[in-house]
Amino acid sequence: MSDIAAMQAGLVEEIAAAENLEAIEALRVAALGKAGSVTALLKSLGGMTPDERQAQGPLIHGLREEVTAAIAARKAALESAALDAKLAGETLDMTLPADAAPKGSVHPVSQVMDELAEIFADMGFAVATGPEIEDDWHNFTALNIPETHPARAMHDTFYFPEVGEGAAQRMLLRTHTSPVQIRTMMEKAPPIRIIAPGRVYRSDSDATHTPMFHQVEGLVIDRGIHMGHLKYTLETFLKAYFETDDIVLRLRPSYFPFTEPSAEVDVGYAQEKGRRIVGGNGDDEGHAWMELLGSGMVNRRVIANCGLDPDEWQGFAFGVGVDRLAMLKYGMDDLRAFFDGDLRWLAHYGFGALNVPTLSGGISA
Ligand code: DAH
Repeated sequence: MSDIAAMQAGLVEEIAAAENLEAIEALRVAALGKAGSVTALLKSLGGMTPDERQAQGPLIHGLREEVTAAIAARKAALESAALDAKLAGETLDMTLPADAAPKGSVHPVSQVMDELAEIFADMGFAVATGPEIEDDWHNFTALNIPETHPARAMHDTFYFPEVGEGAAQRMLLRTHTSPVQIRTMMEKAPPIRIIAPGRVYRSDSDATHTPMFHQVEGLVIDRGIHMGHLKYTLETFLKAYFETDDIVLRLRPSYFPFTEPSAEVDVGYAQEKGRRIVGGNGDDEGHAWMELLGSGMVNRRVIANCGLDPDEWQGFAFGVGVDRLAMLKYGMDDLRAFFDGDLRWLAHYGFGALNVPTLSGGISA
């Protein structure tokens, strides 16, 4: 083997064994660089006789071509191996289960309030709100519950200390959502159709009473309103809410200072596996009546207290416990759990944030 052929074999072997791009570059400089071994051979051609050059020329040029090609080939192989390694390292395994992000849920009270808003919106009712820290006049006096009235005792609540001289208005935590009736009648001209859902307070505490709970108030003020409108509205509401047409109501004469006449509304239900299932006639076999709402025709005095003429404007009102409605529909039996903030309870009874109740899509989502 000629010296050149031996040199070529040696260089090609070294290049093929180069482990990285830096090693390749070092070999390239050593062979083809300005002071490289192959470059030196090429330069030596100039000092040769024509015969020598004719013999050596092709060998030396062949050497340069071979070495250049070997370097390019090894470089390409190293680069593609590096890319393969990089791609392998960056692979996402799409089959891995995703981490379950903690997900909140909608509290049943909020859910039921949304359901009520949806149901009543369909009958033309707007949602009204009022302050939870209320004054004595809106909570009692304007609703025809005077200072000495025994009805105030049933509404034992949390009073704020009297401030200022004479303490004209004693502030308190509202005992019902009925003051929103007063605020609405004083602010808006009739006709009025509102529901007022919200928090209310009483000093009461056991398995079915908590110091804070929720009510929804309904109010209609218009011309020529009578108890037929009240009964129809409540029936439509309860059918939509309990998602059954088999709702039978019983209106019992009762007393509320703010309505005259007043009626307690009972609904028929059946007891199934320890649960009350709303529906059916309470007088039928296996059924009974349960008191559900308070209602009546708005007392003329209340209408007059709000600056309206009771000979022109009449209306009906009703009030019902939201927590109670939730318990009946969704089967909870201890009211206190509603307000414990136990995440296990919420995970069980809560609702998906995107399951917005709609009449068309299913009210309980
Ligand atoms: N405000 C009453 C309560 O808290 C509930 C109620 C009864 C509201 C009859 C009404 C009604 O509007 O007409 O117990």
